[in-house]
Amino acid sequence: MPIEHANSIPDQNTFPLKIWAPEFVSFSLRHPLGGWRYITRSGVVAAVLCELFKATPKDLKKLEDEFIGSVGYAAIMQSMSDLLRSVDPLGSMALYMVCRLSKPAVVVETGVASGVSSTAILQALKDNDSGELHSVSLPEQASTSVDKDAVGERELGWIIPTQLKEKWRLHRGSSLEVLPSLLDELRPIDVFFHDSDHSFENVAFELKEAIPSLRSGGAIIVDDVNFPYVRRAFSNACNGIQVKPWYIPRLFPPPEEMGLARSIRVVSKDIFEVPS
Ligand SMILES: C[S@@+](CC[C@H](N)C(=O)[O-])C[C@H]1O[C@@H](n2cnc3c(N)ncnc32)[C@H](O)[C@@H]1O
Repeated sequence: MPIEHANSIPDQNTFPLKIWAPEFVSFSLRHPLGGWRYITRSGVVAAVLCELFKATPKDLKKLEDEFIGSVGYAAIMQSMSDLLRSVDPLGSMALYMVCRLSKPAVVVETGVASGVSSTAILQALKDNDSGELHSVSLPEQASTSVDKDAVGERELGWIIPTQLKEKWRLHRGSSLEVLPSLLDELRPIDVFFHDSDHSFENVAFELKEAIPSLRSGGAIIVDDVNFPYVRRAFSNACNGIQVKPWYIPRLFPPPEEMGLARSIRVVSKDIFEVPS
């Protein structure tokens, strides 16, 4: 399925890019392809965000400036050795912008690892001066000796700067065990981000739990929707609440993408079913 582009505003060239920011230059020197893709794909991300959140390129430029000047962005840029596991700089920027534009009180994510996505979200909450992030995750599992050196016994969220941790609540365990009671306690939630186990069953389970807890206008974001079964679970969930899914590109070779949707009305358990 092709990436859906917003076909109205903004002109993709208007998306602001501080490509001369020292962190971006240093990232691009280490990952030239990543740097190039950031530049060439950010317009699509901007177009989707403008469409979904009724934002203007000027709004996004301001947010981009704020993110690039933040401790969270610096921590993310320094952690790029972990690039293959985590959301990348463009994905981080998209998460940051979604959380700035929707000003969430409660964000829930699954899958923490080093904490790149958590850092982007927590930086947005700090800059909004409101909201908290609840992260549900199993510990990192190192499967190869190279991984073991890189991951070792490190704590979940090891790149999250200390000053961003005040609004962070980590819930250890699998989403299967933790999510139902956590969502019972927190609902309504404003943003849900999936980046844990990408099996169809798990993505469908998480969305089946999260969507009835989303407030009207809340956002659902799913990483790696280019995996066919992740995409199927995400688009089934969007069908269930009759919202249009958007697919936004990330840095690595096509078609790596994130799925983003906003609920358009209050949803409740009786109108949401995960199709089999
Ligand atoms: C792709 S990494 C997350 C990357 C992270 N979002 C970031 O941007 O840095 C996946 C994480 O999900 C955890 N995980 C795997 N299966 C899980 C499950 N069923 N429930 C909760 N966490 C899970 C893994 O231990 C790992 O820490």
